[in-house]
Amino acid sequence: MTKYIGKSMSRVDGVAKVTGKAKYAAEYSAPDLAYGYVVCSTIAKGKITRINTDEVLQIPGVIQLFTHENRPRLACFDLNYKDQDAPPGSPFRPLRDEKVVYNGQPIALVVAETFEVARYAASLVKVEYEQEDHDTALEHNLHRGRGPKSGVASLLKSPPPKPRGDFEKAFQAAPFKTTGQHIHSVEHHNPIEMFSSTVVYEKNGKLTIYDKTQGAPNSQMYVAQVFNLPFKDVRVISPYVGGAFGSGLRPQYQLFLAVLAALELKRSVRVSLTRQQMFTFGHRPATVQNLSLGATADGTLDAIRHDAIAETSRFEDYFEIVVNWSGMLYPAENTKSTYDLVPLDVFTPLDMRAPGGVTGVPALEMEIDELAHKIGMDPVEFRLKNYTEKDMDQDLPFSSKELRECFRQGAERFGWSGRKPEPRSMRRGHTLIGWGMATGIWEASQGPARAEAVLTVNGKLRVTSATADIGTGTYTIMTQIAADTLGMPIEDVIFRLGDSDMPLAPIEGGSWTAATVGTAVKVACEDLGKKLFKMAQKMKNSPFADVKQDDITFADAHIRLKSDPSVAVSLLDIVGTNGGRAVSETSTSLPSMLEQRKYARAAHSAVFVEVEVDEDFGTVRVTRAVTAVAGGRILNPKTARSQIVGGMVWGISKALEEESVMDHQFGRFMNHNLSEYHVAVHADIRELDVIFVEENDTIVNPLGVKGLGEIGIVGMPAAVANAIFHATGKRVRSLPITLDKLL
Ligand code: MOS
Repeated sequence: MTKYIGKSMSRVDGVAKVTGKAKYAAEYSAPDLAYGYVVCSTIAKGKITRINTDEVLQIPGVIQLFTHENRPRLACFDLNYKDQDAPPGSPFRPLRDEKVVYNGQPIALVVAETFEVARYAASLVKVEYEQEDHDTALEHNLHRGRGPKSGVASLLKSPPPKPRGDFEKAFQAAPFKTTGQHIHSVEHHNPIEMFSSTVVYEKNGKLTIYDKTQGAPNSQMYVAQVFNLPFKDVRVISPYVGGAFGSGLRPQYQLFLAVLAALELKRSVRVSLTRQQMFTFGHRPATVQNLSLGATADGTLDAIRHDAIAETSRFEDYFEIVVNWSGMLYPAENTKSTYDLVPLDVFTPLDMRAPGGVTGVPALEMEIDELAHKIGMDPVEFRLKNYTEKDMDQDLPFSSKELRECFRQGAERFGWSGRKPEPRSMRRGHTLIGWGMATGIWEASQGPARAEAVLTVNGKLRVTSATADIGTGTYTIMTQIAADTLGMPIEDVIFRLGDSDMPLAPIEGGSWTAATVGTAVKVACEDLGKKLFKMAQKMKNSPFADVKQDDITFADAHIRLKSDPSVAVSLLDIVGTNGGRAVSETSTSLPSMLEQRKYARAAHSAVFVEVEVDEDFGTVRVTRAVTAVAGGRILNPKTARSQIVGGMVWGISKALEEESVMDHQFGRFMNHNLSEYHVAVHADIRELDVIFVEENDTIVNPLGVKGLGEIGIVGMPAAVANAIFHATGKRVRSLPITLDKLL
């Protein structure tokens, strides 16, 4: 029975956030707090030959200038620097030595009594370099592409699938075919909250660290290993995150620098990055993709070739799934795909909302649109004709897949049947109107996690797990799951997260948190329920003395007999028998791999977009969009809708605006601010509509959820690009589609 799961609920953390009660990493203070300001390199490659340390130390209020010359001895093995999201390779180590390996590299930290003095002193740091030639342009180095090094990589990262059939032969023979090169620019995460760490140096030398992160235990592990500290002496707290989008999956360099300074000075230190410095670490990598599709005379998609080349750094092989989606979306018999990396003198790229998915799928879905156009088939009809019930590459059926229903409901809501197929055939005054659509897909995964459920002496349920809430609604859905599992009124349930002292949970990413932590919360509450039932059985005159667990239920903060709910014992009375102590249970949940591995598991979407393109100026406006999502069970339609709308907004932003432009002469991003790095704002967004298609999945995880953090963005860029093609007859394959490309 669910009273809360499946119901729209406002965020339980909403009031704290809008009233400013929710504190972020840079808002915690400590007695005698010192302030660090980072100095970044201004060259892309070379050696530091001199830093004017003595002069900087003369400035009143400056406490220390940390550089590679005076840093303490630190762990020397790469393994110590590997965080939960580290790709194969040697992680970057700030202040390691005199070498500069990318432009913007943190090379010094000024620590001062006030932030203002630290910033002022940092502006007076003079660095002399011995410069070397650098290479930062992917498009000039495509010939250097090579496969990623194998090694430990995070969940969701598998190599390209093996070829099937004979692509060359099928493509040669295909009466309908398309070939296109798709170029995606670098994008940077631009959350509202800048990366910050406040390191509180406790009297006993232990550290309490307020950090911006998508996983407090990940930061704890990193700090303990790099600085050779016992885990118990490092506590990382991160209850609120002001947006992250993947950037918080790895500890960023301000954490390292703040901890280093605090340990050396035996004093609390805060280091915050500026907006400009937010452009000096991970980013979505630039990619070049070549796609070729072939279809038979009756419109059967028969051949797919997908080759992708992405940039990475010289020291780590960041890689993502770019070319593996076609086998999950289309039943073509002849396929071939490759994925290569080009190491450049840049920082290692980093996961960003739907990493790889919103790179590979848009390219594929734009070529599918082109092919349907050449055949003369409606794009929805073409996708329905080439629909797959199984993942072709893994040869596994889907645990559930209601994509057909997404097409049907999405098309109906949008009014797709009114579309005139010919490009440039619809207009409104001097603007061309285009209707485009695309499919989205994202994997539904679950990992292991732990949670603790506590019934307090006051009869309140308190559940904790060391996960994060990056604005996705984790606090709220976990509260709903806990309340329903133990039959508690939601006002009496509190869920807490973001503390490395709490039971372990993985980094919050990959859209796996609802499934992963949700299951742990459910199991912990179930286990607590079992414990409470046993206690109830032992109570004096217990009505449950001879009753089996199967015959009772938890409702309205009572244990009740299923056959006669008036036979009941209140949870408050049960905890009252515990000698004035709370009753608690900590549980671990693991995915049931035996069952899950027999199926492919993914969320799907169908996206429909209308654009207006000004014929004279080439300006594009997305006037309305509908996304129909098959994402398993929807825990909370309100927060779920917010996730999809957020993804759609970013999809529009990626399609039309976002681009980090590098000046390759300096190997430096030029538009490192929000006035020149354009993101979609209110004025860019009109009508967005979200449909959740019913999808019952008993295999994917015990909750039947698929996760919604990423599926909302995946289908959007291609739907926009396809709408622009329909409006203008121009197929632009490089994102973002800025007006110069349409004129
Ligand atoms: Mo997401 S890019 O896995 O935070």
